Amino acid sequence: MKLVLLGPPGAGKGTQAKRLQDKYGLVQLSTGDMLRAEVASGSDLGKEAKSVMESGGLVSDELVIGIISDRVDQDDCKGGFILDGFPRTVPQAEALDTMLDDKDMNLDNVVELKVNDDAMVERICGRFTCADCGKGYHDKFEKPAKEGVCDKCGGTEFSRRADDNEETVRSRLESYHKQTAPISNYYAAKGMLKGVDGMADIDDVTGQLTAILG
Ligand code: AP5
Ligand code: MG
Ligand code: ZN
Repeated sequence: MKLVLLGPPGAGKGTQAKRLQDKYGLVQLSTGDMLRAEVASGSDLGKEAKSVMESGGLVSDELVIGIISDRVDQDDCKGGFILDGFPRTVPQAEALDTMLDDKDMNLDNVVELKVNDDAMVERICGRFTCADCGKGYHDKFEKPAKEGVCDKCGGTEFSRRADDNEETVRSRLESYHKQTAPISNYYAAKGMLKGVDGMADIDDVTGQLTAILG
């Protein structure tokens, strides 16, 4: 299965992608995670992306299209993948179609997580992640069972993203509405777009997604 998860910053793309990858044996392909790994490694690509990400803007189409095209060719993607945070502009959506065509692949589902912007600042500013296994948490909505200890791996180190502050979240939401929201129409016009209520609680959203994916 090849799935695209759409939705603004904080909609739950990463949270749901992690659950779906375990359930369906898919690989989560998050361009945000890939770019953060480049920034952390100090590569030229990371240097190019860092300031754009910190300002809440979008890095160039060319750069992310290149990253995804290489990633999709790797062996672990053969069993299917979930695109999380890509495509994010109409040119990226068009490039994805061409790229999949060239690779003899096609998308099975495009699902949008529908949320209210107002709630996204609280979601994002409360987010933290296990530094060892990457499991995501939230100060209020998804706490570890034992405070300070990761449920999944027992790790005790957690991190927060550099772009998870109120000011940057607001400009990320603005970038979303200007540059990313139009791709919903792109997929709707192809008859491919489905939507779920992303304001429901986390388990409920997973239930809505599995009802669509089968
Ligand atoms: P990226 O990493 O993709 O960030 P984003 O789109 O802003 O989305 P987030 O990761 O913040 O939100 P999410 O939907 O994954 O939410 P999550 O599940 O964590 O991109 C970062 C940057 O990289 C971009 O700004 C851009 O600069 C660059 N970039 C990336 N891809 C690009 C591309 N293709 N082109 C150009 N530039 C690109 O949930 C958030 C929190 O809420 C968590 O704490 C979670 O526990 C909680 N939560 C989740 N669901 C619920 C729920 N239903 N109820 C209550 N709480 C919930
Ligand atoms: Mg994410
Ligand atoms: Zn962990």
